[in-house]
Amino acid sequence: MLKSLIEVVLNKQIGIESAASYKYLAFASWCDVEGYSGAAKFLYEHSDEERMHMMKLFRYINDKGGKSIVPPIEKPQQDFKSLKDVFEHAYKSEVEVTEAIHQIAALCLQEADFTTYNFIQWYINEQLEEENLYRSILDKFKLVGEEGNNLYFIDVEIEKLCKGSTNPATGAATEG
Ligand SMILES: [Fe+2]
Ligand SMILES: [Fe+2]
Repeated sequence: MLKSLIEVVLNKQIGIESAASYKYLAFASWCDVEGYSGAAKFLYEHSDEERMHMMKLFRYINDKGGKSIVPPIEKPQQDFKSLKDVFEHAYKSEVEVTEAIHQIAALCLQEADFTTYNFIQWYINEQLEEENLYRSILDKFKLVGEEGNNLYFIDVEIEKLCKGSTNPATGAATEG
C-alpha cells in the first residue's frame, strides 16, 4: 500500500509528465507550421513518449492500491522565436522534470519506500538520457550556427534522432 505522501507526489508527477506531453505537442506543431519537418517528427514522437511516462505512473499508483488522478490540462506556450528557442524550452523543461524526479527519489528514501524508489530509478535514467539528448541538439546550433541553410541541415540531423516505429495518426512513435 502506498503511503499517502508518496501517492501525492506521484500524482503530482503525473501532472508534470502530462504537461510535458502537451508542451512537446506545442513545440512539434510550431515546427510543423514553420516547415521544420524533421524537428516536428522528432517532437511529436517525444510528446507520445511523455504520455507513456505519465501512463507508467498512472498504472503504478493504481497497482499499489492508490488512486491515480487525471490531471487538468494547462495550455502550453504556442509561439517561439526560432527553432533554437524551441529546443532551449525543451531542455529547460527536461531539467525541471529531472529535479522533480530527484525529489521523489529523496522522499522515497526518507519514507523508506524502497519499492517506489526502485520504480523511480527508471525515470532517473530516462531523464539523464533526455537531458543529454537535448543538450546535444543545442550543441548543433552552437557548432553550425543559424545562418543560411544551416537550419535546414540541423532539421535533417534532428530527424535522424527519431526512434522509428510510427503511429499513423500522429506520425510519431508508438512507444519509446
Ligand atoms: Fe518524461
Ligand atoms: Fe522528457
